[in-house]
Amino acid sequence: MKNLWIIANWKSNKNIQEALGWLEVVGPKLDHNNRIKIAVCPIFSDLAEFKKAVSAGNYPILIGSQDLSPFGEGSYTGEEPAEIIKDLVDLAIIGHSERRNNFSETDEIVAKKVDQSRQYNIMPLVCVQSADTPVPTGCDLVAYEPVFAIGTGQPDTPNNANYVAQSLKQKYPDIKILYGGSVNATNCRVFIDQPAISGLLIGKASLEPAEFIKIIKGCL
Ligand code: PGA
Repeated sequence: MKNLWIIANWKSNKNIQEALGWLEVVGPKLDHNNRIKIAVCPIFSDLAEFKKAVSAGNYPILIGSQDLSPFGEGSYTGEEPAEIIKDLVDLAIIGHSERRNNFSETDEIVAKKVDQSRQYNIMPLVCVQSADTPVPTGCDLVAYEPVFAIGTGQPDTPNNANYVAQSLKQKYPDIKILYGGSVNATNCRVFIDQPAISGLLIGKASLEPAEFIKIIKGCL
């Protein structure tokens, strides 16, 4: 049985009450299991309270941000530097296609964000949209998320996801690859059973506590 990552990407959803309500339902249902690492990535403004509640409940949940600044502290209005959020997060999603498409994030910006996250011991989770998307040096975790599969209910085929994951591993032998794009409780198992896939990055289906719990149980 391989080790797995199951990561919830909440995108721009859930105020703090909603985030804590989710945690109250999901947290107690999670076993401390070294084989599955679970991470939740709420909006920035939820991070501090969410982290407090995870610690108070001693839940086996890591916390991630959905982005971070390519710069350090300083005059960068609106940015969230790794140097400051490092106390709140274990990992950071970097280079999600929604950022590349809506905020003109380039491969160069992604590489700068990865540098910042590594400098402050935040694990970067870089999203790639195909086997051709460059993976910056020093990344251990990469999510293959084809744009056509995101939020559409039309996931990639498990075979193709595995093929892309294998191609990435040939180029970057030390990385672990997650699959993301319309993962739900019904299809999660078939993706994690693919030999080159080490976990899942889940958007919409992670928002609903019952569905998320079903996904975790489905991957055990
Ligand atoms: P989805 O999103 O599960 O809603 O398709 C995944 C993602 O964008 O990370």
